[in-house]
Amino acid sequence: MAARLDYVVTPGGTLQGAPRVPGDKSISHRALMLGAIAEGVTEIEGFLDGADCLSTLAAIRAMGIQVDAVSATSLKVHGSGLYGLQEPKAPVDCGNAGTAMRILMGLLAGQGFESTLIGDESLSKRPMRRVIDPLMSMGARIDSRDGQAPITLHAVKPLKPARHVLKVASAQVKSALLVAGLYAGGYTWIKEPGPSRDHTERMLRSFGVHLIRESGWLGISGGERLEATRIEVPADLSSAAFFLAGAAMCPGSQITLANVGVNPTRDGVIRILRLMGAHIEVRHSRLGGGEPAADITVKGGRLRGVDITPELVTLAIDDIPAVLVAAACAEGTTRVHGAAELRVKESDRLQAMQDGLAAMGVKVDTTPDGINVSGSPHLKGGDIDSHGDHRIAMAFAMAGLRAESPMLIRDCANVDTSFPGFVELARSAGLQITSRKAEAA
Ligand code: S3P
Repeated sequence: MAARLDYVVTPGGTLQGAPRVPGDKSISHRALMLGAIAEGVTEIEGFLDGADCLSTLAAIRAMGIQVDAVSATSLKVHGSGLYGLQEPKAPVDCGNAGTAMRILMGLLAGQGFESTLIGDESLSKRPMRRVIDPLMSMGARIDSRDGQAPITLHAVKPLKPARHVLKVASAQVKSALLVAGLYAGGYTWIKEPGPSRDHTERMLRSFGVHLIRESGWLGISGGERLEATRIEVPADLSSAAFFLAGAAMCPGSQITLANVGVNPTRDGVIRILRLMGAHIEVRHSRLGGGEPAADITVKGGRLRGVDITPELVTLAIDDIPAVLVAAACAEGTTRVHGAAELRVKESDRLQAMQDGLAAMGVKVDTTPDGINVSGSPHLKGGDIDSHGDHRIAMAFAMAGLRAESPMLIRDCANVDTSFPGFVELARSAGLQITSRKAEAA
């Protein structure tokens, strides 16, 4: 287990310059998994070398895939084709990574060998039935600890095709079923209750896989071959989100974030901050390997509270903690609706945000599926528990820009899962932050 780390943030400062945010986590996971089952060598540029994606890298290596690291962020994956993976000799450790565990379940369900997926304390508490049940309807044989990890996938080959109507808009579930669909004898169809991020669809297409869209259904045929390709991973919008929110809520700030992924199925943070009155310019939009990327400039100013609809929540699913910190500095109340999914992320993010904002003197209350934050011109610093959740830790770090006294944020080592180098980058942009080994409890 990583040593426990706390952040200390001295209040004040502004964000300036052009901080380079690391690669997209969702796209990096998918590039490894799809590269592993493609034919030929897939080159990945801009890979996120955070702990979550390194878990996926170790997983595919444990299944016999050769991966050459040209550098930490430039990899060559020697794909073994759809049926070239080998049975892992030990349980595959997904660490803190829900995306790794859920999409690997889809990949492993129809391999014809047995595998077990394990994770850390937080991942072992997260709901897996949403993937287990539809996979079992395809004939997968799966054991779990009452719907949670460890998950054992028994040898089955091939899977049966099925039609899945998803209960939650979840890209992880959709992706697991799309990948499982490659191992089914026929077409697998998926219908989502609302749009979730479409990185898997875009990437499957760039590997040459034909997907069908028909009256709200997404279809994939079993046995489609993937041809190796080159994947340029843009900077992660959900990592950029902390800088976007931090700069937007801090008058005098101005930053430009280069080459950030702006896929319209997950750009909710830009839409919400703009609704709040933030000055955000998105320029030089381009399409690299099927994924749109752009340079984003933000200027600090006054923000206003807004109503955040369930649709916007899905488009900003990982970015609500950053938005809520901006809401705490806005004029008026921000109300988030339809956000029950935030309770089953790396922590219960509605509760963690309520507790942290309340510790800073903010008026805040939660509902079963939402949170209301009353903005205030005066934020106290405070002693905040991140609950080991990377996004809670980084959101509160940015609150230091507007706090009136120092902030101590506890249990921040997991920031490395998605944003290695966060403290150094944030400091270079003007946040007065240091990390230190946590004192024994
Ligand atoms: C992700 C999907 C989202 C998101 C997660 C990454 C992905 O999860 O919260 O951080 O890469 O597919 P859900 O599918 O549970 O919404």
